[in-house]
Amino acid sequence: MHLDRASLLRNLTLEEKAGLVSGADSWWTKAVDRLGIPAIMVSDGPHGLRTQTERRNGAYVGAVPAVCFPAGVALTASFDPSLAYEEGSRLGEEARGQRVHTVLGPAVNLKRSPLCGRNFEYLSEDPYLTGVMATAYVRGVQSQGIGVSLKHFAANNQETRRMSVDEHIDERTLRELYLAAFEMVVKEAHPWTVMCSYNRINGSYSSENAWLLDDVLRKEWGFDGVVMTDWGAMNDPVKARQASLDLEMPGPSPEHDKALVRAVREGKLPEATLDAAVERILAWIDKGLETAPCTYDREAHHAWAREAEAQCAVLLRNERHLLPLASFDRVLFVGPFARTPRYQGGGSSHIRPIKLDGALDFCAADWLPGWGDDGKTADPARLQAVLDAAPRYRAVVVFAGLPDAYESEGYDRTSLALPACQDALIDQVASVQSDTVVLLHVGSPVTMPWKDKVGAILNLYLGGEAVGSATVDLLTGKRIPSGKLPETFPLRLEDTPAYTDYGRGTHDAWYGERVFIGYRWYDDRKAGVLFPFGFGLSYTTFGLDGLELSSRTWSKGSTLEAKVRVTNLGSVAGSEVVQLYVGMAQSPVPRPPKELKGFRKVFLEPGESKVVSFVLDERSFAFWDVERHAWHAAKGTARILVGTSSRDLPLVAKVEVREEPRPVVVTDTTTIGDVIDSGWPYPRFDALLKKLAASYGIDSLDAAGEDAAMYRSWMLATPLHSLAVFAGVPYEQVLEALR
Ligand code: BGC
Repeated sequence: MHLDRASLLRNLTLEEKAGLVSGADSWWTKAVDRLGIPAIMVSDGPHGLRTQTERRNGAYVGAVPAVCFPAGVALTASFDPSLAYEEGSRLGEEARGQRVHTVLGPAVNLKRSPLCGRNFEYLSEDPYLTGVMATAYVRGVQSQGIGVSLKHFAANNQETRRMSVDEHIDERTLRELYLAAFEMVVKEAHPWTVMCSYNRINGSYSSENAWLLDDVLRKEWGFDGVVMTDWGAMNDPVKARQASLDLEMPGPSPEHDKALVRAVREGKLPEATLDAAVERILAWIDKGLETAPCTYDREAHHAWAREAEAQCAVLLRNERHLLPLASFDRVLFVGPFARTPRYQGGGSSHIRPIKLDGALDFCAADWLPGWGDDGKTADPARLQAVLDAAPRYRAVVVFAGLPDAYESEGYDRTSLALPACQDALIDQVASVQSDTVVLLHVGSPVTMPWKDKVGAILNLYLGGEAVGSATVDLLTGKRIPSGKLPETFPLRLEDTPAYTDYGRGTHDAWYGERVFIGYRWYDDRKAGVLFPFGFGLSYTTFGLDGLELSSRTWSKGSTLEAKVRVTNLGSVAGSEVVQLYVGMAQSPVPRPPKELKGFRKVFLEPGESKVVSFVLDERSFAFWDVERHAWHAAKGTARILVGTSSRDLPLVAKVEVREEPRPVVVTDTTTIGDVIDSGWPYPRFDALLKKLAASYGIDSLDAAGEDAAMYRSWMLATPLHSLAVFAGVPYEQVLEALR
């Protein structure tokens, strides 16, 4: 059955139309029974379904049990888009099972600071990685005939004052970073809906930001689906519709409905604008009407979650091949997370799992709690028990991590540290037991003052309900770690890109670090980090060689292929992530030293080699040119860097970007240097420059001799109108010389 939208629009009253653009309650849209318009249900994701059906005193309570898959950051650490697709399609199946029409996710805001309370839900500090993984995830969900809501559009990069903070971000930074993943997903995966963020961007709430929603999202990127508000993100319902927002959630919102009717009657809002929103909402409802409900095998989904988490965990350190452990004989587990792991974050994505695997349920290791059950309170007796026991064991495995209350929607962290009792225990245990393994259950980076003392560190991130069984698989080598960090682990909070602005509790956020976030920032400052973006070890080792490019030049409209061979040099099978970065040696604007432009995860048997290839196109080289209002790959040399982490890039090649020079619109304030850069030479202009040089007592711009460098810089920086004062050449004559 399909809705006849044209006929419905003719038959709906103005009041009914105004009613349809806000929800019926927290999770349902409104039905119009007399015309056969059904209500549909949405539910939170992104790493499991939080469907609420039970009500108490009018409010929804609890949630239907659902499989909790690895959280966004963990899934992204797999660097495997096919895994993201599979997680999405399983979530889509569960949605079909629960009669959910659209899943509220994925959440693709970038990690501007490691302190953001929702970083566990967000994917990466890099827009390309975020975009590729989210595109695959959205395709997976939507392959089931279930919609997604790509959120939170845009720049919801902090939880502090998230409902009102004004994010001051220049356009280039928005385009290259904070909008880029949304753009890729919209263009490549066609999400059914987009959810706007609460915050303001450059003075305007996202829900009523016509530049963001109408100019960029719809007109430039071609999005024709529904834009809904985040829950309660509506400010002014009329302005929002003028900006092309469709659906206010949750509802009902009788006052806003009335305001819309009034605005139409008073001629302040064209009825056609309201009609367009209603039509898009009907089209969206329609998309899911023929999706057949299905049953799904929860146990199979749980088993998949276990396999998936084993692909997500990141091995950060493994001295003397401490891992894998041959057995659990004389191995001591420490910490409450060995029994009841931390596996998801707090807030709207917090779901009720079908069950929870604790590592101790899957192996026969000895166990001691080590610290308080809450994960943050020191317990001297428990600590002493561990220190007394540790030397008697072959190895000690510490199940460390952030307690639930440390990472949640609604607020940001204030520190990068683990609870002090955990840091202290790890440090002291490592002093008496060199074979100490630290497992991290965290949704975002933490500091590790004990890093160099312990034998191994395995970051499980927030691995979903099967994290405990997956941990045992990884510790024993039944599964080989193959995750890579989708974010930089900094040495200190003070080193982080947004440090001077972030988390100060102010009403405004100033993005002074501009395009330099994550590794872009640390690379530019040549700063040390705890662990770099893209880093992760394996139980085997890999070698790269044979970087080949299909061409040494690139020009607009063409693509370039890069190929490289990767070989498993060890004696066990494993997967490696080959990463390709591009850095522009010269650029008209300040650019990060390099940016991720391709990655491939490959599984290799011992001794096996495979050739992987990457295709580079305009976006691989371009920056957002604010003056031209377009992507622009400027002429210059690009360095192609290939390796296995952002700081281990042994293969390097160069490509000449043969773009047409950036045309300069000459005005009286254009500098001589800009004229020269624009593609020069104009022979008659050369004669004028000689006059200018003569006024400084030298022959030409390139004269040698004392102070020549200084005169050259002066001349290059001179605006054309100043040739009048310095060389007696009026601006009209300059223009004439440039013709
Ligand atoms: C969150 C969204 C979520 C919505 C519905 C909001 O508070 O920001 O991500 O989808 O609630 O639960």
